[in-house]
Amino acid sequence: MKTIWVLTLSLIFLSGCFETKKTVHLDGKKLLEQKCSKCHNLDLPPKTFEDEKAPPMMAVAFHVRSFIKTGDESQRVPKAIAFVKDYVVAPNVSKSFCDKESLKSYGLMPSQKGKVTQDELQAIAEYMFKHFTQKNLDEAQRIENRLNAMPKGERLALQNNCLSCHKVDKHIVGPAFKNVAMREGNTLEVLVHSIQNGSKQKYASSKGAIMPAFKKLNDGDIKTIAEWIHSLKYEK
Ligand code: HEC
Ligand code: HEC
Repeated sequence: MKTIWVLTLSLIFLSGCFETKKTVHLDGKKLLEQKCSKCHNLDLPPKTFEDEKAPPMMAVAFHVRSFIKTGDESQRVPKAIAFVKDYVVAPNVSKSFCDKESLKSYGLMPSQKGKVTQDELQAIAEYMFKHFTQKNLDEAQRIENRLNAMPKGERLALQNNCLSCHKVDKHIVGPAFKNVAMREGNTLEVLVHSIQNGSKQKYASSKGAIMPAFKKLNDGDIKTIAEWIHSLKYEK
C-alpha cells in the first residue's frame, strides 16, 4: 500500500515537472500565418481580393476590438482575446460581429476546433491586438506613401538592396549614382550591362570593392533602375 502511494506521489511530482517544462513560448505571429492565413489576408494595410474567403485579419481585429462590450476600457483587449479564443472553435451567426451582408457573402467561419489549441489561440489573439493597431497602420501607410512618391527606379533600387552600397550623391561602398551617371561613356546600355554582369576596377574610389552581378533581376526592372540612375545626370 505504502509503495503505491509513493509511486502515485512521484508520478504526480514528475508530471508536474513535465508540465512546467512544456510551457514553451508560442510565437503568435507564426501561428497566425500557419493557422489563419489560408482564409484571412494578414497584410497591413490589408490586400483585398474579389474572391477572398474571409475578411482581412486587420478588419477582424479592428472590428472585434471596437464591438466588444465593456464598461472598463482596461478589459477591452482581454475580452477581445477571450472572444477570439471562443469564436475560432465555436463560430456562430449570433456571436459574429460581421454585418449580415458580409456574413452572407463569406459564409460562417468553419470551426477550427482540433486544428488549433487554446494556448495557441491565446498567443495568436495577443499578437493580433498588438500588431493590428491604428498606430501600426498609420506607420505602414506612411512608409507606403513614401515608397509611392519615389520614382519607380529608385523604389526598385531600394527594394533590391542597391542602396545598401550606393547613395545618390555620396560614395559609400560603391560610387555615388550621380557620379555613375556623369561618367563619360556611361550610356544606358552600359549601365544595364554592369547591373546584369557586375563591374570591377572601373572606379578608383571603390578601392577594389566589386559590383556583384544581378542575374536574377528581370530585364524590365533592370532597365527601369538604369533609366533612373541615368536620369540623375540632369539633376542639380
Ligand atoms: C477556412 C477559412 C478560415 C480559417 C482557416 C480561419 N477563418 Fe476566421 N473567419 C472566416 C470567415 C469566412 C469569417 C467571416 C464570417 C464569420 O464571422 O464567421 C471569419 C471570421 C473570423 C472572426 C470573427 C470576426 C467578426 O467580426 O466577428 C474571427 C475572430 C476569426 N475569423 C479569427 C480567425 C483566426 C484567429 C483564425 C486562425 C486560427 C481563423 N479565423 C481562421 C474563415 C476562416
Ligand atoms: C555589395 C555592394 C553593392 C551592391 C549591393 C550594389 N552595388 Fe553597384 N557597385 C558597387 C561597386 C563597388 C561598384 C564599382 C565597381 C567598379 O569599380 O567597377 C558599383 C558600380 C555600379 C554601377 C556603375 C557601373 C558602370 O559600368 O559604371 C552601377 C550602374 C551600379 N553599381 C548599380 C547598382 C544597382 C542597380 C544595384 C542593385 C541592383 C547595385 N549597384 C548594387 C557595389 C554594389
